[in-house]
Amino acid sequence: MTDLRCNSQRLWNAHTAMAVFGATPSGGVGRLALTDEDRQARDLFVTWAREAGCEIRIDGVGNIFARRAGTNPAAAPVMTGSHLDTQPLGGRFDGIFGVLAGLEAVRALNDADVHHEKPIDIVCWTDEEGSRFGDGCLGSSAFTGGRTLAETLAMTDADGLSVGSELQRIGYAGPEPVGGYAVDSFFEVHIEQGPILENAGLQIGAVEGAQAATVYEITITGEEGHAGTLPMTLRKDAMRGAAEMIHRVDDVAFEFEPYPVITVGHVRVRPNSRNTIPGQVVFTIDSRHPDTETLAAAGARMVAICEEVSNTQGLGLSINVKGHRDSVAFDTQCIQAVRDAANALGIPHMDIYSGAGHDAIYLARTCPAGMIFVPCEDGISHNEAENARPEDLAAGTDVLMHALLARAGRV
Ligand code: GLV
Ligand code: MN
Ligand code: MN
Repeated sequence: MTDLRCNSQRLWNAHTAMAVFGATPSGGVGRLALTDEDRQARDLFVTWAREAGCEIRIDGVGNIFARRAGTNPAAAPVMTGSHLDTQPLGGRFDGIFGVLAGLEAVRALNDADVHHEKPIDIVCWTDEEGSRFGDGCLGSSAFTGGRTLAETLAMTDADGLSVGSELQRIGYAGPEPVGGYAVDSFFEVHIEQGPILENAGLQIGAVEGAQAATVYEITITGEEGHAGTLPMTLRKDAMRGAAEMIHRVDDVAFEFEPYPVITVGHVRVRPNSRNTIPGQVVFTIDSRHPDTETLAAAGARMVAICEEVSNTQGLGLSINVKGHRDSVAFDTQCIQAVRDAANALGIPHMDIYSGAGHDAIYLARTCPAGMIFVPCEDGISHNEAENARPEDLAAGTDVLMHALLARAGRV
């Protein structure tokens, strides 16, 4: 057993202070990427990290790196972190916990005057949630070469505002190049966002891997017309097409065993007026499965259904793949480092699989990566009611700190 532990109260207070930025009336957080609320959270993180002695660097896609120096400045950094943005009606822990745990680990190492050979970087990855610009993990994807910087900066939100212009506006279009250097390893701690740990009565999950995901954007084009005058038989109603597609796409899940998860969570209607027949509907399909090939088969079925409906109803159709990632297995040494840290701390743990997407999945493409899960109340997440216990957050932070130290080489 080791007595090097984080300060649980300080960790909790940091969450409370951050939850102010984008606080919703029902106790959650709505802090979309690159908004003023995101800027406020970034500013406070940078202030705190500087106070903890970290050197700050910001890259061209707005990723923030706060470095606790190691005794060997030339060594590749051990990284930890997550994201500051949330869903439109999100909670107080998804993402921010992984950032604040990294910060608390650094603060606790400072308090205990503990040092390491390799630098430790706490990272805030830009726009993990993907609620605003059409796809998620923008910062970690650009950092690992999944999407170029130019492509990322050109992505736009529903109002036509681009990632690049919004980064400039909030002052986080940094001067540093995006990625392109060696990273020793990446560890991300996160609430589980599901019920498995809570039901098992365990505080720690050593995450083995994460499922594949594909996001589609479907655009259906019909013809606007007067809701009171145009006979039903003469209409080209984009909403009618969307309704049939959405219903049937959802059913595709049950054609596979085990079934994928399929979600239509975003719809835009033009002109979105009570008494005009919709001329255009755009909706997204978020589809996920542990097996990349099964997911592709489900995708092919969904595309065929959309084509069939648009043909039958005489509607225009365009299908755009907004994002895709294969399933990933995390690095066996990183997984073992998490188990070893939990064992050293005397915290019972289990291996677990991630249903959600995370920045660590992208980091795993270019460096050894691993994740630590802690339970959240009733497994609820992407919901204002999302909640976690201070002692579980502290346990996850302690495991993170010891995994980081092991990897960074305590001196
Ligand atoms: C992010 O939270 C995701 O899993 O999409
Ligand atoms: Mn998250
Ligand atoms: Mn999320």
